[in-house]
Amino acid sequence: MAEFHFVQDYERLVADLLAQYPVDEAMSRAVGGDYEAVGVVERAVVAHAGLRNGQRLIDLGCGSGRLAWALGQAMQIDYLGIDIVQALLDYAASKTPPGYRFVLNRTLAIPAEDGWADMVCAFSVFTHLLHAESYLYMQDIFRALRPGGRLVFSFLEFAAPAHWLVFDGTVAAQRNSNVPHLNQFIERNAIDLWAERLGFVRERFIDGTDAPWGNAPALWQSLAILRKP
Ligand SMILES: C[S@@+](CC[C@H](N)C(=O)[O-])C[C@H]1O[C@@H](n2cnc3c(N)ncnc32)[C@H](O)[C@@H]1O
Repeated sequence: MAEFHFVQDYERLVADLLAQYPVDEAMSRAVGGDYEAVGVVERAVVAHAGLRNGQRLIDLGCGSGRLAWALGQAMQIDYLGIDIVQALLDYAASKTPPGYRFVLNRTLAIPAEDGWADMVCAFSVFTHLLHAESYLYMQDIFRALRPGGRLVFSFLEFAAPAHWLVFDGTVAAQRNSNVPHLNQFIERNAIDLWAERLGFVRERFIDGTDAPWGNAPALWQSLAILRKP
């Protein structure tokens, strides 16, 4: 079976970074950099979205554990991280409490029982998938969430002036046939339509420039918070 584009892209990205940088630097760059600072912001986002001690979180596309590291410093939760690159998962496990679980998963499905999760988050993951791939994940996330559970994910959109940096960079790379991985924008009306068709209620969008959690800076990417009724 042919491998997904994201497996090839991220395997190559991680291997190239490990060849160029010391491991901590490579593992930070592989997920976008600023490992601890961004982890703290992502933790503020999931807490703002309702994650509480004792709950079950699935961190889809957990990478090298930016969020997991920050959660391990401050919360007691049942954590399951999922990613497509084993080296990232191994690093994440080395930075987090022993009870945290990390699973290699190269399907577009969630390896959890129906209704298991109180929350699923995906930070900068749907930004690298085709819309149909994100939609398949969202369909299965709906299954894996308990009623009342939430999906929190970040996205890039043309309406956010800052996000044009990514698009302009992608256009330049495309000109040289040198795009390291897919950068996919998602518009809010698409998210609303997907949510409605899948049975989610869209609770709110948060601009990438806003930080309604108060105790940490803004994320930069936009955020969607969806609830399973
Ligand atoms: C930009 S990084 C963000 C990592 C992490 N969420 C964070 O914020 O630190 C994107 C991550 O998504 C993972 N990824 C890409 N495609 C994926 C897929 N189809 N399923 C799960 N993870 C995926 C990559 O391996 C990478 O770790």
